[in-house]
Amino acid sequence: MHFRVSPSRRGVRGSIRVPGDKSISHRALILAAIAVGSTRIRGLLEGDDVLATLRAIQAMGVTATSPCDGKMTVEGVGLRGLKAPREALDLGNSGTAMRLLAGLLAGQSFGAELVGDESLSTRPMLRVAQPLQRMGALVKTASGGTPPIVIQPVAGLRAIEYRLPIASAQVKSALLLAALYAKGRTCIEEPSPTRDHTERMLEGFGYACERTGNRICLSGGGKLHASDVDIPADVSSAAFFVVAALLAGSEQMCMRHVGTNPTRTGLLEILRRMGARIEEQNRRTICGEPVADLMVTPSTLHGIEVPTALVPLAIDEIPILCVAAAHASGRSVIRGAEELRHKESDRIVAMVTGLRKLGIAVEEYADGLAIQGGHIGAGTVDSFADHRVAMAFCMAALTADGPVTIRDCDNVSTSFPNFLEVARSAGMGIDARE
Ligand code: S3P
Repeated sequence: MHFRVSPSRRGVRGSIRVPGDKSISHRALILAAIAVGSTRIRGLLEGDDVLATLRAIQAMGVTATSPCDGKMTVEGVGLRGLKAPREALDLGNSGTAMRLLAGLLAGQSFGAELVGDESLSTRPMLRVAQPLQRMGALVKTASGGTPPIVIQPVAGLRAIEYRLPIASAQVKSALLLAALYAKGRTCIEEPSPTRDHTERMLEGFGYACERTGNRICLSGGGKLHASDVDIPADVSSAAFFVVAALLAGSEQMCMRHVGTNPTRTGLLEILRRMGARIEEQNRRTICGEPVADLMVTPSTLHGIEVPTALVPLAIDEIPILCVAAAHASGRSVIRGAEELRHKESDRIVAMVTGLRKLGIAVEEYADGLAIQGGHIGAGTVDSFADHRVAMAFCMAALTADGPVTIRDCDNVSTSFPNFLEVARSAGMGIDARE
């Protein structure tokens, strides 16, 4: 499917609520599955990635109602209640599902195989397999360190002390899930902070998780107690409309009920440094996660050198940040972002290629890119089958000379299944074509 987006004549506007947070949705399903008792979830993202995790826990004997309007109930089976899946677990496009489930399954008394689509099958898995092996797990990847991941049963795991070589919330979360099954106390140290939804939700399920600075420790052998979970709107999905409102808003725009966990709001901080007016109103805490309504005022942006410390806190938002930078005056530099090469696509290549096609001057580095703000032209770009690249280029079209066609947008449904509907409700002219 291709999207064709017309430049916005009347400007984007309104008050929107984007779907539930993808990272929190995966965790809600996984923790609910191994808790004791029944968990009611609200605000679940019904995107393909999260549905892959849902199918995986169902394949391991967990009963769950079908999600409807983000609401569902999961009947937890307890830490030791999962059953061997009959076939390989297909996690589609989802790196989060694969890495978190590898951690969950490493300490089970049954084996499993984790497979994924073409993109997931090229993504690095040694980063999770190696520390799990140190815990005594029998976890193997294919020869290139990529999926499939094959896990054999073990009698138990041992706790480890582990310093993550790269900042990764998926790896951290996988190890925390495995640590639930390990004898002793596992401690993980992060090189820089990454999203902490797993730690917060473990606490919400009554499981002690000790956090001091960049160190997280957890003892195995406890119990998780079912707890209702209310999932906020995904700040990574709201990000597209935040930038749309800044660049092409006709008035102040509101994104309602957005998760504003400080490990996720790097983009908002970067945009503010570029001159954006973004306010957080009605701040509240829901199920241990900060939530607010984002009020975005159309603003004139200027380029900056993005502080590398903010990059891990904005890692999924770099494609849309590139679009903001293409529109800003002057030069923006994003470095320390080598991890972008290992996402659903090589996002450095995807953004460099697409922006150049639209007439923007871009320099590519091994760990990032530099963008000279300018005039965005009409044209056709490739999403590289990456949902976030696709949605970012939709927003680039708003101020372009003419329509922009974005190829290969099917994967938008992995994180934002009603993107077209929300975009149209905000006043965007967007069509989907086979
Ligand atoms: C995620 C962590 C991040 C992020 C991904 C979701 C998570 O990846 O890019 O989209 O839910 O834990 P890393 O673990 O590679 O940082």
